[in-house]
Amino acid sequence: MSETAKLELAGKTYELPIITGTENEKAIDIRSLRAETGYVTLDNGFMNTGSCQSGITFLNGEEGILRYRGYPIEQLAEQSRFLEVAYLLAYGELPTQAQFDEYLKQMSNFNNLPNGVQKIIEQFPNNSHPMGVISSTVCSLCSFYPEYLKMPLEAEDRERGIVQMMAQTKIIAASFYRQTINKKPVPSDPSLGYTGDFLNMMFDKEPEPEILKALDVLFMLHADHEQNCSASTVRVVGSSEANIFATVSGGINALWGQLHGGANQRVLEMLTKIRDAGGDYKMFINKAKDKSDPFRLMGFGHRVYKNFDPRAKIIKKACDVVLEKLNVQDPLLDIAKGLEEEARSDDYFVSRNLYPNVDFYSGIIYKALGIPTNMFTVMFVLGRLPGWLAQWKEMREDSSIKISRPRQIYVGHNKREYVPINNR
Ligand code: CMC
Repeated sequence: MSETAKLELAGKTYELPIITGTENEKAIDIRSLRAETGYVTLDNGFMNTGSCQSGITFLNGEEGILRYRGYPIEQLAEQSRFLEVAYLLAYGELPTQAQFDEYLKQMSNFNNLPNGVQKIIEQFPNNSHPMGVISSTVCSLCSFYPEYLKMPLEAEDRERGIVQMMAQTKIIAASFYRQTINKKPVPSDPSLGYTGDFLNMMFDKEPEPEILKALDVLFMLHADHEQNCSASTVRVVGSSEANIFATVSGGINALWGQLHGGANQRVLEMLTKIRDAGGDYKMFINKAKDKSDPFRLMGFGHRVYKNFDPRAKIIKKACDVVLEKLNVQDPLLDIAKGLEEEARSDDYFVSRNLYPNVDFYSGIIYKALGIPTNMFTVMFVLGRLPGWLAQWKEMREDSSIKISRPRQIYVGHNKREYVPINNR
């Protein structure tokens, strides 16, 4: 007999099925709970709630394991390429050479932006935050490609939408940056590879292979992270059958927040503040521990990783490679390493399992590459895009999917009578 959990409520016993994932992860299936018992569950921040069954990414926070479609992140970072990983996430298998060539060919149909989109970008003031520009401009694409508004979306349009987003989002990001430095956009040249094309569009200069590899690794490490805040947003927005651009735009906005992808910008601002205050990082550690102080050590802690973030380990190494190759001595790196060392031996951080996360060292790499601080989270967008697209595709292909619509526990007033304004 299959395993069940027993729930006792008001003298009655209910049996709830147990679901076991391929890595032996256990879940209690509560899908029939409300219908059978009248009860719902309450789970602030969804800390204990599985929102879907997914075959894309496996993550074990206790052991620091991250795998895409079964492949360990360490192997992919060492041997693969970002676009190959993007293909793997979307289609479930590593591509053959012929499949990969076809994927690139499809993408090359979207090597520029419609004129109108370019004009929209031009309307943004140069001091706009690039995350707002990217999310609005990505959403605006639906006005230029109305075929994606058709519902139900044909499988062919879904596949085209995925490669289109991969090709055009980086063009939008680089175009806006060029505008902020009063330079014309540089045309996309996919023959330079994903990261090469992006850096060339930003700086009108082909980067060194070591730099390309480091950025490619960084993007691979960001590519998916199962049901994080932005991926969940993508699934929630996409569950209403909103179009692909509106859906991805939702993910971009969720990523912007400083507790999620926006942390990479905040880390650099924090390190700069520590440097400007004389480099006394112990003082900032104490501030982070002080519950009456809202300051948090940005780039530290994670909802799921409670041992170490496997991505942070790889990024720390990439950081050393980039700084050495570019011959950059960045005092912020010393402050970052000092902070990490101090926090690792401090009971506050150790007892709460707070370790550097993916955002802690990535900003130092971006800074060395010449990426402006307010574009750091845009770099995260470019890395995370394949994950959002894969999550959206998986959801759209699942015929059992339901519109996301949680319940609540109402704690407001009970019924009361309206009082006209002059009697209040
Ligand atoms: N500095 C100081 N204290 C912290 C920090 C931090 N960075 N992170 C967590 N804590 C404390 C928190 O105050 C709480 O203490 P107590 O148990 O005494 O109340 C405890 O650790 C647990 O924290 P939480 O906020 O309940 O944990 P969470 O799982 O809800 O939040 C987090 C996870 C990532 C939002 C949080 O650790 C944080 O705010 N970190 C800083 C922002 C950051 O680096 N975000 C990037 C996350 S990784 C990349 C991504 O997702 O995009």
